[in-house]
Formats: sequence, C-alpha cells, structure tokens
Amino acid sequence: PKVTIVGAGNVGATAAHIIASKNLADVVLIDVAEGLPQGKALDMMHMRSVEKFTVRVTGTNDYADTRDSDIVVITAGIARKPGMTREDLLGVNAGIMKSVIGQAMEASPNAVFICVTNPLDVMTTLAFRESGLPANRLMGMGGVLDSSRLSFAVCEKLGCEPADVVAWAVGAHGEGMVCWPRFTTVDGTPITELMDEAAVAEVVQRCVKGGAEVVAHLKTGSAYYAPGASIAKMVEAILGDTHEVMSVCAHIDGQYGIEDLYMNVPVRLGKNGVEEVVEFDLNDDELAALHASADSVRAGLANLPE
Ligand code: NAI
Repeated sequence: PKVTIVGAGNVGATAAHIIASKNLADVVLIDVAEGLPQGKALDMMHMRSVEKFTVRVTGTNDYADTRDSDIVVITAGIARKPGMTREDLLGVNAGIMKSVIGQAMEASPNAVFICVTNPLDVMTTLAFRESGLPANRLMGMGGVLDSSRLSFAVCEKLGCEPADVVAWAVGAHGEGMVCWPRFTTVDGTPITELMDEAAVAEVVQRCVKGGAEVVAHLKTGSAYYAPGASIAKMVEAILGDTHEVMSVCAHIDGQYGIEDLYMNVPVRLGKNGVEEVVEFDLNDDELAALHASADSVRAGLANLPE
C-alpha cells in the first residue's frame, strides 16, 4: 500500500518514520519546502538497512508522485507557539488546507483522507466542504492522541501500565474536549471506582492541557511524537481493515443527537475509512458535555472564511 503525507514537518515526518518502522506502507512525503521532504525521506531510507523494514520512503514537491495513494494524511500548516490556542491557527491554515485538499484528491481520488492540521475539527470540516468526499473517506486525527494523553495521566496517577488502560477522550480537539471517566478503565474497572472525584478531575485536566504542556516546554512548536504515533495507529487500522473502535474526528450525522458536525467520537475503522460512529450509552451529564463540546466546534466554524 501507499500512504502520502502532506507536510514533511515535525508531525508529518514523525508519522512517516513510525509507519515505515512498522513496515505498514510505502510513504510519500510531500511539502512546499524544496529539499525538506527529499532530505528526510533519504534519511529514513538510510535507516531502512538498520531497522530492516522493506517499505520505501520518498520525498517530493510534486503531487504526481502521490498518485493513487490508499491514504492521504494532511499535516501541512503552522503549529502552535506558547500562548496560542489551536484556534489562532485558523486563518493561515485554512488557506493551506484549501490548496492541499484539491491537489491531493486529484492525484488520489479513491484514497481515505486523514486531516491533522489544526484547528482540527474546523480544518476537517473545511476539507469536507471543499472536497465533496463521502464522509466515510474523510476524517481527522485528534481523539486517538487525546485518549492517549488521558491514558498517560491515568497511568501516572495510579502507577499502572498503558496496556491495562482503555481511555476515552472525545469531542472537540481543543479546550472543549470531553473525557469519559466512566468508560476509562484499568483492567476493566472504571477509573471512577479507582479514584476519588478530585483525582478524576486532575487526570482529566492533565489530558485536556497535555498539548499545551508540551508547547510550554518546547517553546518552538507543538507535539509530534504522540501525534505521529496516533496517525500511524489509524493508518494501521484502515490498511489492515481491523474494524477497531477508536476516537476519531468523524462526520456525525444524528448519532448522540448531533447533526452534521465533524468532531471526535468513537468510530469503527476499516478499509473504507469510517465504518460507523459507535454510540456509547451516555448518561444525561455526559450527553450534555458532548453537546457543549459540539457547540464549541460550531463556534469555531463560524470563523471559517467563506
Ligand atoms: P511544522 O511546521 O513542523 O510542519 C508543517 C509543514 O507544513 C512544514 O514543513 C511546511 O513547509 C508545510 N507546509 C506548509 N504549507 C504547505 C502546503 N501548502 N503544502 C504542503 N506543505 C506545506 O508543523 P507540525 O508540528 O508538523 O504541525 C503541523 C500541523 O499539525 C499544525 O497545524 C499543528 O497544529 C497540527 N497538529 C495537529 C495535531 C492533532 O492532534 N490533530 C497534533 C499535533 C499537531
């Protein structure tokens, strides 16, 4: 299989690295910066004989080289600096997303598209409107990352191992994010039974602020290792047609009482992309929180240039 990654910056290159290391697919890195994708791809090809993977990584500035990709991942755009929210990136990144989606689609009309560029929910919606792609073949990566940050916070708090934790963070990929503690489990036991309310609130905050915490340390940009791994996880599920359920920024069409909106929800992934939005049995408070999060996405959409 062939995976194109648009944007050979921190997130794009890290995703390429992980996809190649796992031998999942040939990777084409494409960027407007001349030499950047070529140099990083060559570096990864040099790594090939160390790690003994068999897939190839190539770099290009020409969409012709991305032709007939099975998956296109879009990471092109600027990232946050300290003090910025994801929403501050909207103006610049909307222009980039518009130019990328058309060219990428022309080269790979049958691909599954994964948007990563922030603000995620708004950019994914923009790509949906611009492309006319069927909703199952267009999604965003946000919830896998957010859920992994929740899992991290739980592990740090309880001293448990990630393999024993199932964590759910959904909703807007931003400050309006929603964690589901009742569905977040360690060895099958909900964390609401393993810690008091204050501790639950603490791990939820650690998750919501996780991205900003990384930005504050780095000062020069935002996270890329966990985002890269999260992209690879989704690519693996789609190419492998695994039907795995994970938190994905998907088109919600009536599920949870939400109409026509892109936001992270539990989704089953397979070779055609989103197979279904999976509805968890939420209580009234959880449902209200999800609706509030949907409202925060709608507020962001109002800022989208026509
Ligand atoms: P970066 O600055 O390291 O890389 C971005 C790359 O995009 C640069 O190499 C740049 O030359 C390229 N680019 C700009 N315009 C382009 C165009 N028209 N066509 C092709 N390439 C173009 O930034 P980084 O850290 O890789 O972040 C990329 C985006 O991903 C940001 O918007 C960031 O906010 C977002 N992000 C999203 C996450 C999520 O969970 N959805 C997680 C982490 C980052």
